[in-house]
Amino acid sequence: MQLRDVTPDDLDAYVRMRCDPLMMADLGGPRPAAEMPALIQRDTEKAAADTAWIKMILPDPTTPEIVAGTVNLWAHDTDDGPVSEIGWMVLPDYQRQGLGKRAVRTLLEQARDTDRWGIVHAYPSTANAASNGICRTVGFHLVGETDVPFAGQVFRANHWSINPRTDLT
Ligand SMILES: CC(C)(COP(=O)(O)OP(=O)(O)OC[C@H]1O[C@@H](n2cnc3c(N)ncnc32)[C@H](O)[C@@H]1OP(=O)(O)O)[C@@H](O)C(=O)NCCC(=O)NCCS
Repeated sequence: MQLRDVTPDDLDAYVRMRCDPLMMADLGGPRPAAEMPALIQRDTEKAAADTAWIKMILPDPTTPEIVAGTVNLWAHDTDDGPVSEIGWMVLPDYQRQGLGKRAVRTLLEQARDTDRWGIVHAYPSTANAASNGICRTVGFHLVGETDVPFAGQVFRANHWSINPRTDLT
């Protein structure tokens, strides 16, 4: 497993991840494919500018064009100040092989090693056993339940947080 920055050539993977009803069941439902070119353009620019970490998960580093999913780390403003958040997706053919947790751990190790991002938060749906499993396995602490607005909807999420400097397992 290896991570690399997103590029415009990942458009097909974006469509397979973000326009699929099953993949998006806990993320507000599928997005229209027509939105993907602009989204990948924005994400590529953020990755190039290093304002966010937008990584593609490669199951085999010798074939970097074959993508198993994505893991992202970014900061956004809230009423309580800036918050660092991490999110992830693994395509169906690659699920349940440990790739999600390895990718999340790898990105958090990079956060630890560069001493960037501070405390990192994750908000998986309470119903998403696999994502909550990733949080538990990697070393996140459960803060509690919260309502998260996402893609025009509100869903019930578990709020997890981790200090990559001290909590990674
Ligand atoms: C959530 C998702 C990223 C998990 O990726 P994955 O690579 O399949 O996960 P892993 O194989 O690393 O498994 C992580 C943990 O969850 C468990 N798990 C995996 N799939 C599971 C499932 N369907 N039901 C219950 N537990 C599951 C694993 O056993 C593992 O726990 P362990 O460390 O105690 O053994 C992937 O299923 C996905 O992208 N789903 C659709 C999009 C999505 O829900 N994104 C996240 C929104 S919060």
